[in-house]
Amino acid sequence: MSKPKLTLADNFLQLIRENIPSAEFRHESLAPMARLVDFFSPWQPPKSANRTLEFADGSIPLALRTPLVLAAGAAKQARCLSAFASFGFGAVTVGTATLRPRKGNPLHPRVRTVEETRAIQNAMGLNNPGIDTLVRRIGQARFALSSEGLLVGISIAEDPDLLPDESPDQNVLACLATAYPESDYLELNLSCPNTGHERLDHAWDRIRRLLGEVSEFREKQAVKKPVWVKLSPDLGDDFLATALDSVRTAGLTGAILFNTWPAAHGAWPGGEPLPELPELGRPGLLGGLSGHPLYAHTLDRIRQANDLNTGLSLVGCGGVETGGEASGLLAAGADLVQIYSVLAFRWLAARRIVAELG
Ligand SMILES: Cc1cc2nc3c(=O)[nH]c(=O)nc-3n(C[C@H](O)[C@H](O)[C@H](O)COP(=O)(O)O)c2cc1C
Repeated sequence: MSKPKLTLADNFLQLIRENIPSAEFRHESLAPMARLVDFFSPWQPPKSANRTLEFADGSIPLALRTPLVLAAGAAKQARCLSAFASFGFGAVTVGTATLRPRKGNPLHPRVRTVEETRAIQNAMGLNNPGIDTLVRRIGQARFALSSEGLLVGISIAEDPDLLPDESPDQNVLACLATAYPESDYLELNLSCPNTGHERLDHAWDRIRRLLGEVSEFREKQAVKKPVWVKLSPDLGDDFLATALDSVRTAGLTGAILFNTWPAAHGAWPGGEPLPELPELGRPGLLGGLSGHPLYAHTLDRIRQANDLNTGLSLVGCGGVETGGEASGLLAAGADLVQIYSVLAFRWLAARRIVAELG
């Protein structure tokens, strides 16, 4: 895929990356930056960008102002949420949230940009203020969110530090119960590579049971909201089919392809060797990679998932930098496209991607 043409503002972003070396600080500045952009340069999407999604699992349809969603991890604190509408998004995923607050991995830095490949290496380790705080902040932003027409989803995961005798499934279900009323949709993050904890999407029996329990919980609610399951990009062909089949059998909405690429593989998805990467977050941890080198793999897997005709809603996430790439995922069968890393490399990336969708 070709490099997007750099504008003066993109070069300004590069200047910021060079002069503010803490990528985590830059990452935390995203929400205030969104507020500034919203104040100085409010924006409305073209009508052609509107999407209404209907789902085979019978969950309520979602009407989005654009098919671009801010991927989980960027709004970990749920601050300045409504301002992300002016960035160009149709929805923002808050979190990943856990039942209790988490500091994340102890050693800093926990995130860095890999300039040569326009990628990000991160090992944050699910830091978040806990689901109660996040839900309260979303509640406080509801009026502004509704006026902007911006949807908010919540990504939840099992807390890797369970209390003695705490059931892992009950931990997830308790987080879900708090998140559910305040979210337009939910994401179940089964694939965080950064906590030193077994990734759930490698334990199929456990997953099937958990997905069934999540589905059961949802059946008891007055409103059936969409629930997507977020998977890791390193699932082999058979395992992707198994994972999608598990989501379909449980009766959930669909899957997000994908989370970050585990750097421990030593190569990109296509086999190209990774550059030398430092340990991040905790000794021995290389974390997950995101950004442009993942795009070809994301597209390939969305095609493959679409060919399986599961009836699931697919969300493409990984490496998207341009409207052409976002259109590629939508044409291949994705209902929505999520982005994150490109925000570090392309000024107002989401707004420009929406304009480029045509
Ligand atoms: C710094 C950082 C933190 C992230 N945190 C989360 C997270 O908490 N939960 C999650 O599901 N994905 C998280 N992700 C993964 C993104 O949501 C997304 O799946 C991945 O970055 C691929 O998309 P991209 O290439 O557009 O960045 C994080 C990514 C980055 C770069």
